[in-house]
Amino acid sequence: MNSTPTPPIDLRSDTVTQTSPGMRAAMAGAPVGDDVYGDDPTVNELQRVIAERFGFETALFFPSGTQSNLAALMAHCGRGDEYIVGQDAHTYRYEQGGAAVLGSIQPQPLENDADGGIALERIAAAIKPDDMHFARTRLLALENTMGGRVLPLAYLRDATTFAHTHGLRTHLDGARIFNAIVKSKLDERTAVAGFDSVSVCLSKGLGAPAGSVLLGSQDVIAEARRWRKALGGGMRQAGILAAAGLYALEHNVARLAEDHDNAAYLSVGLRDLGLPVVPPQTNILYVDIPARHVAPLTEHLLGRGIRASVAEHTRLVTHLDLSRAQIDAALRAFREYPGW
Ligand SMILES: Cc1ncc(COP(=O)(O)O)c(C=O)c1O
Repeated sequence: MNSTPTPPIDLRSDTVTQTSPGMRAAMAGAPVGDDVYGDDPTVNELQRVIAERFGFETALFFPSGTQSNLAALMAHCGRGDEYIVGQDAHTYRYEQGGAAVLGSIQPQPLENDADGGIALERIAAAIKPDDMHFARTRLLALENTMGGRVLPLAYLRDATTFAHTHGLRTHLDGARIFNAIVKSKLDERTAVAGFDSVSVCLSKGLGAPAGSVLLGSQDVIAEARRWRKALGGGMRQAGILAAAGLYALEHNVARLAEDHDNAAYLSVGLRDLGLPVVPPQTNILYVDIPARHVAPLTEHLLGRGIRASVAEHTRLVTHLDLSRAQIDAALRAFREYPGW
């Protein structure tokens, strides 16, 4: 009997990674304290290290990227204020409208350009005049990477300068900022220059089980710390999770290049099958699957131990728990689908 388990091939997201033995050892050995009192040395160390690395005054650890983004929006905007955001942005589209529902902040969604940015003319046209009929436009929120695309550095400079010139603050959802950094070979400080706050996720491509960090000035983070507590994100001995984040920062950043190579390799293989693929810039690729194949292809892949969110516009994501051999196995399964 063959008892060797087949390693799962999960292309749904880079959030599916298992905690590695080294990371678990770091977590088990972490000194901890009550972080609501600011007493957790490992959380404090993570916040210090990451703030230093990105060139911010300070940082704050959160359980999730959703909460980190929301606390940032609430730190920048008060009740009845407005933030400008892309139609496709996570904070607008995939966080249940938390800014409006929980923050009393009106979103002003604008169409995203093909490269993931928002045209400055559209931003200019959306900024409301100082008039009691309008919400006060306070903030521009961008995302990098955006659906796996790296926003051009020149655009980020122009957009943040433009926002500041017009009296807006700037927030970056940098859930996958390290993918952008590795892809564009930038240093952390250059990659986020011009933003008043940045949310960085540790539990996407970096492989930590949970955790995001919000970067900002002392004032912004003091406000975000208050909101974090109200939102239920005040964790106690959170150093166990912060230790995973520190481990991830040390061991799992440079290797993101492998995920990018694997995504490129996967996209070429799918294209060779005649499928329309958008060539990936980082670890996320999109492939169009005709509607009639969605359900049977999902079943076929599952039968071969492959999990994928197959849809007409399918997103496939590579990560540290996917080797080149597993990508080959996935490609084989796509090739052997009898329905093509
Ligand atoms: C771009 C982006 N921002 C924010 C989040 C939210 O992160 P979390 O799932 O930790 O709440 C995600 C989650 O996938 C994301 O992809």
